[in-house]
Amino acid sequence: MTDQNHKPTTNDAGIPVSSDEHSLTIGPDGPILLHDHYLIEQMANFNRERIPERQPHAKGSGAFGRFEVTGDVSAYTKAAVFQPGTCTDVLQRFSTVAGERGSPDTWRDPRGFSLKFYTTEGNYDMVGNNTPVFFIRDPMKFQHFIRSQKRRADTNLRDHDMQWDFWTLSPESAHQVTWLMGDRGIPRSWRHMNGYSSHTYLWVNAAGEKFWVKYHFKTDQGIDFLTQEEADRLAGTDGDYHTRDLHEAIARGEYPSWTLKVQIMPFKEAETYRFNPFDLTKVWPHGDYPLMEVGKLTLNRNPTDHHTEIEQAAFEPNNLVPGIGVSPDKMLLGRIFAYADAHRARLGVNYKQIPVNRPQAPVHSYSKDGAMRVQNVSDPVYAPNSKGGPKADGDRYPPTETWPASGDMVRAAYMLREDDDDFGQPRTLVREVMDDAARARLVANVVGHLRNGVTAPVLERAFEYWRNIDREIGDRIAAGVNEG
Ligand code: NDP
Ligand code: HEM
Repeated sequence: MTDQNHKPTTNDAGIPVSSDEHSLTIGPDGPILLHDHYLIEQMANFNRERIPERQPHAKGSGAFGRFEVTGDVSAYTKAAVFQPGTCTDVLQRFSTVAGERGSPDTWRDPRGFSLKFYTTEGNYDMVGNNTPVFFIRDPMKFQHFIRSQKRRADTNLRDHDMQWDFWTLSPESAHQVTWLMGDRGIPRSWRHMNGYSSHTYLWVNAAGEKFWVKYHFKTDQGIDFLTQEEADRLAGTDGDYHTRDLHEAIARGEYPSWTLKVQIMPFKEAETYRFNPFDLTKVWPHGDYPLMEVGKLTLNRNPTDHHTEIEQAAFEPNNLVPGIGVSPDKMLLGRIFAYADAHRARLGVNYKQIPVNRPQAPVHSYSKDGAMRVQNVSDPVYAPNSKGGPKADGDRYPPTETWPASGDMVRAAYMLREDDDDFGQPRTLVREVMDDAARARLVANVVGHLRNGVTAPVLERAFEYWRNIDREIGDRIAAGVNEG
């Protein structure tokens, strides 16, 4: 008897099919027929299910939610998304950096903290990490850095010797490596970590005044971490521990939230600040630039299709809205190119038409055609035109997100300022922020890492690297490794 309440299975053209289980054959025991196009559709679709994973940040998950402005930062930015009382839909994705799509959530690694705000002025993406700094300060080194974290050519294994070789030859990594080897290098869950823009961005207010800004999303769940032992055990028993935690918390109605705070630096002060304020390996100490509240981010809806809503999500730091611009941070400027290029390669040129990437604001662009375009374009297809097509409105949207630049073309490091060195801020982290117990865990984590395949001369350089951060910590690390 047919159950009239069941939806009948159809093929992808919506045509009802007669069996979910049996191929079309000549007699029950006979050969399969080539014209069983439904069987072929099933096989062909299956063979094409996987898309390329993200190069870095391949493993992750996310959720939808909202961002509500609770403070008043209108004196610093005219961005609609940050005006008092505004509430905006968001998509957030969390990730690890080095592991592949199936890798354990609990490996020691920075975590991605990507946000897409569906604002009234188009999509604004804040693609940050759970750390306020990064390993390098020039995009030329990014590709090499990521390769050193991934797999060797010969064994296809990850290799701590390769990681420390790169790090110790790149002393600007010391701050991020100290942070990574400390407790925050393995968060208890994505809910229990902060998110940071890490970069400095430009904010412009309605009067055209400019400010430099750094974002801090402070977890309302409280900071919590996993010890190396807990993380190692979970990597073996539940590789998707963080994915599961987020999904289950939202399903229970326990919606995680973060309070967005910003540090604001007046535009002119950047010229004389004691640190280069655009160097991604440095923070702005809170004593110099205190935090100011902006609003609350809450995640309250799980995706229902991970592939269409998370895997095909395309975050890109170049999605900046009026009132928010880039700074002279070379890493940020490199990223402005890299992401859209990655999306075109991974998802195709029309990736912004995938529903999760579509803005809620109307699109009036002149882009046209290309593979998998699904939204119709209309004439006129060129500008300027006298046929009623969209017209850029420079009066309403002047190019205010700018800063002056001049000089010869060079390939050079940033000019050093008074307090710019690679070891000062990590030294403060070790000596003034960590307590004795946190320092002991830091030493144990580094010793464990170095004893796992790091050999001379890299090993000696690693001891020196840590002695440069803090002599005593360096000596303890050397003793710990040599004891083994
Ligand atoms: P503060 O004492 O004002 O801030 C210290 C910061 O360190 C807080 O933001 C705190 O985060 C964070 N923190 C606490 N424990 C750890 C840990 N184990 N690993 C990493 N971060 C931790 O000092 P300053 O602003 O002068 O900064 C001192 C040092 O703190 C910096 O050199 C930097 O290494 C680190 N830091 C600074 C940040 C900044 O933006 N100024 C941000 C994060 C770290 P929370 O308040 O959430 O507990
Ligand atoms: C992902 C490049 C630095 C955070 C990616 C991807 C690329 C990339 C190509 C994959 C994108 C995709 O396929 O969807 C770069 C380059 C960098 C850089 C060239 C430096 C020059 C940074 C920094 C941060 C960061 C400094 C954080 C402050 C992220 C995050 C993702 C990501 C969170 C995952 C995005 C998602 O959730 O889909 N990066 N990156 N990256 N990067 Fe970077």
